[in-house]
Amino acid sequence: MKRRPLIAGNWKMHKTVNEALAYIEAFKPLVADVSDRDIMLAPSFIALDACEKSLEGSNVALGAQNCHWEDEGAFTGEVSPRMLADVGVTYVILGHSERRHLFGETDEMVRRKIEAVLRHQMIPILCIGETLEEREAGKTLAVLERQLKEGLKGFSAGELKDLVVAYEPVWAIGTGKTASPEQAQEAHAFVRKLLSEMFDEAFAEKTRILYGGSVKPENIVGLMARPDIDGALVGGASLNPDTFARIVRFGRME
Ligand code: 13P
Repeated sequence: MKRRPLIAGNWKMHKTVNEALAYIEAFKPLVADVSDRDIMLAPSFIALDACEKSLEGSNVALGAQNCHWEDEGAFTGEVSPRMLADVGVTYVILGHSERRHLFGETDEMVRRKIEAVLRHQMIPILCIGETLEEREAGKTLAVLERQLKEGLKGFSAGELKDLVVAYEPVWAIGTGKTASPEQAQEAHAFVRKLLSEMFDEAFAEKTRILYGGSVKPENIVGLMARPDIDGALVGGASLNPDTFARIVRFGRME
């Protein structure tokens, strides 16, 4: 089954509102003719509203990088899924390794966030991935299995119909060390097999699994050539509109 690719940019803690808007003005024409894949940009929370207006009518969707699981309440410094839906967010990145490792997010918190995002009809992008230590200890598949099963515990295939999973090996994030297409394919095939066991084969076949970790224009074609790699979640290389447009246009640079 052919899945529609998704190329997503995660800006992390980069760009002011004005920088975000200047980027979008430069980026939109570079990808305006791309219709056979989905494109997403995830700016910081404070730039979401302005970016949504700037992206309106374009083929670029808006994503957020995180959210709380409650709709409102005494949670100083947090942003709720209700607020994200209100400004027109389509995708929400959840369980990114930086959230897990730097801010103590647990699998259970990630699961609650997925529930919150679904409650507001947004699309969760569940990030999973092993550290270098875990890979070297031979624990990669066990870590992926735990993060996937705990994060998706209790949901039905119907509830998760638009779910996106992102495999991001922690050792490949921001390090310039991309997983080889073979390493990524092995992890993606494993994730798809798990999804098939947890839900059913049709669900596994239609669910998009993105790769993230030092994706660049130079390695996107090799990654996308693998059968279970359905797109990319791009950090550093999404910060420049020309570079990110080259990644979005993989295989069709004309
Ligand atoms: P880099 O592309 O900078 O390695 O970051 C990947 C990532 O964490 C995307 O979410």
